[in-house]
Amino acid sequence: MSRFLRLGVNIDHVATVRNARGGAHPDPVRAALLAIEAGADGITAHLREDRRHITDRDIERLVAEISRPLNFEMAATDEMLGIALRHKPHAACLVPEKRTEVTTEGGLDVIGNTAALARPIGELGGAGIRVSLFIDPEPAQLDAAKALGAPVVELHTGAYCDAETPEARARELERIVRAAAHAEAIGLECHAGHGLSYATVGPVAAIPTIVELNIGHFLIGEAIFVGLTNAIARMRGAMKAARP
Ligand code: PXP
Repeated sequence: MSRFLRLGVNIDHVATVRNARGGAHPDPVRAALLAIEAGADGITAHLREDRRHITDRDIERLVAEISRPLNFEMAATDEMLGIALRHKPHAACLVPEKRTEVTTEGGLDVIGNTAALARPIGELGGAGIRVSLFIDPEPAQLDAAKALGAPVVELHTGAYCDAETPEARARELERIVRAAAHAEAIGLECHAGHGLSYATVGPVAAIPTIVELNIGHFLIGEAIFVGLTNAIARMRGAMKAARP
């Protein structure tokens, strides 16, 4: 029997539009509530060090107001660790973060940063927060995540989504398929995300060992044309078609 595939909706870019003018509109918490009504299984928000989109107040309000799990994306810094431990979201996804990047460009180098990651993984897990590590689909990185005691990995689908030829996309998909099988083999829960759209979601949703997709930018952009409810419904439809 195939496993249920959850959809986490990332609302960061509602805050990007709000912050373009300052003020309160459009409100990312309102978007989160609407996304849940439209069928999102959880809400994802990334509190960046430079607060370019989501703010501390948004996180406070999300924790207080949403009825589905919050996946708090964060860099593994002391500041973010303190905020996560104060709010105790359902999940925390550790991501690499560079101030100069437009978006999260690659996965965490878990192998090269075991010392720096051990404490946040231990403290978040100890507080009952489900920790995931956002990594490129490389079996060695999954092994390192497992060795550090993280229960979940999220595979970076950016290279697959951005591939410029069908051959390159097939190669990138194959890396995701292998990594997701490896996650199952070593006992890690497997999520995936970054850059997914109606056009790219199907083959990833079809991978049976992936149980959660986190999708943001495309859905918020598409919402301009069809509304958030319709965009989420169509994305769910594409996921369901690939994983009945
Ligand atoms: N997963 C992680 C860990 C991310 O950093 C992001 C982007 O914030 C996403 C998923 C969603 O990516 P996108 O906004 O491209 O759908």
